[in-house]
Amino acid sequence: MGGFPQVRMRRLRKNEPMRRLFRETSLGVDDLIYPLFVIHGRGVRREVESMPEVFQYSVDKLTREAKEVAALGINAVLLFGIPQEKDEVGSSAYQPDGVIQQAIRAIKKAAPGLLVITDICLCEYTSHGYCGVVVDGDVDNDKTLDLLARMALSHAEAGADIVAPSDMMDGRVKAIREALDGSGFINLPIMSYAVKYASAFYGPFRDAAQSVPQFGDRRSYQMDSANVREALREVEQDVAEGADIIMIKPALAYLDVIRKVRDTFNHPIAAYNVSGEYSMVKAAASRGWIDERRIVMEILTSIKRAGADIIVTYHAKDVARWLIE
Ligand code: PBG
Repeated sequence: MGGFPQVRMRRLRKNEPMRRLFRETSLGVDDLIYPLFVIHGRGVRREVESMPEVFQYSVDKLTREAKEVAALGINAVLLFGIPQEKDEVGSSAYQPDGVIQQAIRAIKKAAPGLLVITDICLCEYTSHGYCGVVVDGDVDNDKTLDLLARMALSHAEAGADIVAPSDMMDGRVKAIREALDGSGFINLPIMSYAVKYASAFYGPFRDAAQSVPQFGDRRSYQMDSANVREALREVEQDVAEGADIIMIKPALAYLDVIRKVRDTFNHPIAAYNVSGEYSMVKAAASRGWIDERRIVMEILTSIKRAGADIIVTYHAKDVARWLIE
C-alpha cells in the first residue's frame, strides 16, 4: 500500500470540476491593487513606451480611469506622481496642491468606494532622482525622514486611505507613524515596502515615473538581491515601527523571500509584480511567443502560492475582466 497502482495522482486531475475542487490557491479580484501614474498638466493620457497599455494621466483624465477601475471590482489603486517642478528636496511632494494631493481628492470624489493608496518616496520629485536629500553624493537617511513624514501627512490630509513608503530609509515607518498620529490620523494604515531590492526590474517604471537617478544607483539603500536573512531583519524593523502591511518587491524573482516572510510573520503581505515583470510579458505576448492570459494568471497565482495576500500589478484590469468572463 501507499504506492502505485493503488495511488494514482491523476485521479484528482481528471476533468475541470475535479481540478477546481482540489485547487489549493485562488486568485480573485479582491487580491489586486492597480498602480496609476499621475502627471501635471491637463488633458494628458500618454502611453508609457516601455509599458504598453499603461498611461500617465493628468488629474482631469484620471477620474474616468478611476471609475473604470472601480467598476471592474478592484478595491484599490496605488498612486505615483510626476510633478511639474523638481528640486533638491522634492518640495512638490508635500504641497497641499501637489499633483498627488489633487489626484486623491479627485478620485475620492469620482469613485468614493475605491481605496487610494499613495507611494511615499521622493525620487519622482527630486532633481537628482534620488529618494531623499543628497549629502556628499549619498542619500542622507535622517534628513530624509522628516520630508517623508511631511509627504505622508499631506497625502493623509488630502484623503489618502493608506500610505506606502517605498524609499528604504531606516526609521521611516516610525517617523511617518508619529507624524500621522500627531495629527489625528491614528487609523490610517501604513503599507511598508519593507523588503525592496535594488532591481533591474524597475527599469520601465523609471520611464513611467520619470525618476531615473541622474548619477550612480540605489544600492546604498535598496537591498542586495542575493540576501534573504536581511529581508527578515528589514521586516522585523518595520513591524516594530508599526507597519500594518508588509510589501515585498519585486515579486517573481523573489518568491522564496515572500514564502520566508509568510512563514515568519503574521502581517498581511503584499507583493509588487513590478514594471519589468509586466513589460517582459507584454513584449513576448506582442510577438505571439507566449499566451498572455495564461502566463499572467500563472505568474500571479505563483505569487499568491508563495504566500502573498495582495498583489500590486499592472495586469489588474485585464485580470479583473478575465475573472468575470
Ligand atoms: C520608488 C518606487 C519604484 C517603484 C515603486 N516605487 C522605483 C524605484 O525604486 O526605482 C518600482 C515599481 C515598478 O517597477 O513597477 N518611488
